[in-house]
Amino acid sequence: MKDFISLHDITKEELEALLKLALKLKDENKKGIPHPILKGKTLGMIFTKSSTRTRVSFEVGMTQLGGYPLFLSSNDIQLGRGETIYDTAKVLERYLDGIMIRTFAHKDVLDLAYYADIPVINALTDLLHPCQVVADLQTVYEHKGKLEGLKFAYIGDGNNMAHSIMYGCAKAGLNCAIATPEEYACDGDVLENARADFKASGKELIITEDPIEAIADADVVYTDTWVSMGQESEKEERQKIFMPYQVNKELFGYAKDDAIFMHCLPAYRGFEVTEDIIDGKNSVIFDEAENRLHAQKAIMATLMG
Ligand code: CP
Ligand code: NVA
Repeated sequence: MKDFISLHDITKEELEALLKLALKLKDENKKGIPHPILKGKTLGMIFTKSSTRTRVSFEVGMTQLGGYPLFLSSNDIQLGRGETIYDTAKVLERYLDGIMIRTFAHKDVLDLAYYADIPVINALTDLLHPCQVVADLQTVYEHKGKLEGLKFAYIGDGNNMAHSIMYGCAKAGLNCAIATPEEYACDGDVLENARADFKASGKELIITEDPIEAIADADVVYTDTWVSMGQESEKEERQKIFMPYQVNKELFGYAKDDAIFMHCLPAYRGFEVTEDIIDGKNSVIFDEAENRLHAQKAIMATLMG
């Protein structure tokens, strides 16, 4: 594993190893046992989109691993003024030990990884958000005691979260159901890859427009914003179309009694989820947010250690 860009590209064993390491690093962290695995190493963090969790958890994670995180806003670096990905990659590899990037076009991350001789970590593109899903799987495991055979339902936009959830569920041996409006279905190429991954895992992938079909007897219920970064101009239209996909008490009632509610955050209460669900007893959103720290430390330690 040179880079961490898509859960479609890694093996079941690699994902299991990341989850095992994340749990170990979390345990050590809670006990105050230091683990300076990346002492003296520097991670460059390129952001062309906003972030709370990703930025803070990568910065703190790198610090806890004994390394140094360098925040690089696209407003401040020459990439934002048109310097090429190629030149950026060839320059940054001379200074850094790894690059984390959050940006719009997925191809930019693929190009950066192709040109740079150092590890590249995808911290969200318009297509995928794999770091989030490693943390999510860690959270499911902690709350359910297993991953294999669970039903994971995702209700809402066929976006970067839906895509990475499909890939992650297939690799980790969960069944997965995705409900989206027809106009906001998942990307065709991602679906094709995901279907192949589910065929290999022997688990079920349900793609539907019916949120009740997706959520029925689910162990995990997940949603995400209806308006992702970069889609702000479509806000009103999206909010109308997505209303039947709101995770509220009635819809959540179709899941198993002990189902957990998850959301990558930031959340918009009253839209994709109601307050009683996201702030209710089944919600594990803050464990999920915390696990970004531990999961990404495992990713950095594996790639850069
Ligand atoms: N879930 C997530 O990636 O949050 P941020 O956008 O705050 O980083
Ligand atoms: N789908 C959301 C996820 C945010 C973490 C977005 O891309 O804005």
